[in-house]
Amino acid sequence: NQQAASVAIEAVPAVAQPVISKEVTVLFGSQTGNGQRLAKDLSGKLQAQGFQVSLSSMSDFKPNGLKKISNLLLVVSTHGDGDPPDNALPFYEFLHSKRAPQLEDLSYSVLALGDSSYEFFCKTGKDFDERLKELGGKQITPRVDCDLDYDEPAAEWFGNVVGNLLSETMKLSALVSEVTQAVENGLTAEGSGYSRTSPFGAEVLENLNLNGRGSSRETRHIELSLEGSNLQYEPGDSLGVYPENSPVLVDTLISTLGWNPEEPVAVNKTGDVRPLREALLRNFEITVLTKPLLEQAVKLSSNIQLKQLLEPAREQELRAYIKERDLLDLVQDYSPWEGSAADFVAILRKLPARLYSIASSSKANPDEVHLTIRTVRYAAHGRDRHGVCSVQLAERIQPGDTLPIYIHQNPNFKLPANPDAPIIMIGPGTGVAPFRAFVEERNEIGAAGKSWLFYGDQHFLTDFLYQLEWQKWLEKGALTRMDVAFSRDTAQKVYVQHRMLEKSRELYQWLEEGAYVYVCGDEKNMAHDVHAALATILEREGGMSSEQALAYLVDLQQQKRYQRDVY
Ligand code: 2AM
Repeated sequence: NQQAASVAIEAVPAVAQPVISKEVTVLFGSQTGNGQRLAKDLSGKLQAQGFQVSLSSMSDFKPNGLKKISNLLLVVSTHGDGDPPDNALPFYEFLHSKRAPQLEDLSYSVLALGDSSYEFFCKTGKDFDERLKELGGKQITPRVDCDLDYDEPAAEWFGNVVGNLLSETMKLSALVSEVTQAVENGLTAEGSGYSRTSPFGAEVLENLNLNGRGSSRETRHIELSLEGSNLQYEPGDSLGVYPENSPVLVDTLISTLGWNPEEPVAVNKTGDVRPLREALLRNFEITVLTKPLLEQAVKLSSNIQLKQLLEPAREQELRAYIKERDLLDLVQDYSPWEGSAADFVAILRKLPARLYSIASSSKANPDEVHLTIRTVRYAAHGRDRHGVCSVQLAERIQPGDTLPIYIHQNPNFKLPANPDAPIIMIGPGTGVAPFRAFVEERNEIGAAGKSWLFYGDQHFLTDFLYQLEWQKWLEKGALTRMDVAFSRDTAQKVYVQHRMLEKSRELYQWLEEGAYVYVCGDEKNMAHDVHAALATILEREGGMSSEQALAYLVDLQQQKRYQRDVY
């Protein structure tokens, strides 16, 4: 019913090759689109090798077909505290239930995506792998767990999978390396030639603080030029921004360890070198500690206490230590260090791009992209801490500067294809960003569908992001309704979900009329509470039991009428 739903690969022109009629099913579970893109790439490669590939989202896959499958490839990410992506949940639950069939005839492999700074790193992928094994499945090739920088491990997994699937039919080491190479070159490159691995230098056109004087918040409205890039985006997509670390933090780190800032160090496996200071500014992550990092760092320290902290029995202490601490804390807390600067940078993760939900419609702003970014500043463990990208943008980036960026398409957060369909948008704080894009787009194309925005922040006077624009769109009819919840203007806190509950009758009517529901913003608290509020509304207004209400929401999700961009 909308673009995100159609992921089936079009037929790839037949390749003159030995006929392999092997069938392979590729399923993805993906929240932000990375898993989906990888699964699609893999499917394309397999098709090019002559496999019959069936690719689909886990949410579109009928699990009773599982028994008939002989080769299954899963690409799945993990979120928050080890949670599956929204579109993986029903399949995940089915497979872990008693209804799951025995799968002795199944060969499978799992590519897991995650972030090693989280305790439950790649948990969803690990769970699938274990469960499939338990049900009798045989691994085609071992599961690979990818950290944020997933290109290389994913390409290696691709190569192994294809190699193993092919090896029964032909000799192929040359072919495998060819495939691996193609994967490494081809991942995510879309149209313009600029991509995550080859970002565009976008000029900053505007950089404003949206919050009023006296606010405890600082939220930057950033406008960037895409001129000359040929980059395209749609409402719901995100922008990847490669930040630079704080020069103060980098210099303190260098002086604490007594390093030479000019010492050349390798910045990648290809052997490119850069002066240490520059490499720490641009190439490496220094503000997040992970368990794998500490396990490497222990080899560079003669401090016995660091070794002790890594003992299995002290896992929880380790978790508590790495939370909200950075590399400078580590080097200060566990000296003396024996490693050289080169040894140190060799164990650091690559500085990942930050993803921000795009706040503009490209139809209304050709060659521009707008972002809404809250500045992250807090104190922890006796020191002020800064969000790498948000504070760089707030303090060190001016109009005229350039930022390395790329478009991150998000197929799971898209306006209905039908402009007449009603939409309900729930986005407190910077969660409102994509809805500025949605309403701007619908205004631009003159969409007839009704729209309803729930927005909230702390104070009406200082924190009402884009207030004048909403008013303008309300007047013009591009936005039909808006309900706001300012949490700290009243003795009792009010949040967006309270406003939703107050309007439960109308909200239910909108749902019954086919409205699409979008939620953007904080995952842990807000999105969870909003989900519960939706269920309450269905119970109250639709006379459903709580099970029925939850099933209704799962069904909405399946129909792509309940989409979330949460972080
Ligand atoms: P608070 O800071 O007063 O707690 C944007 O950050 C807005 O979301 C703020 O008004 C914030 O309120 C609010 N918020 C915090 N927790 C929330 C939750 N669980 N559900 C909805 N809104 C929440």
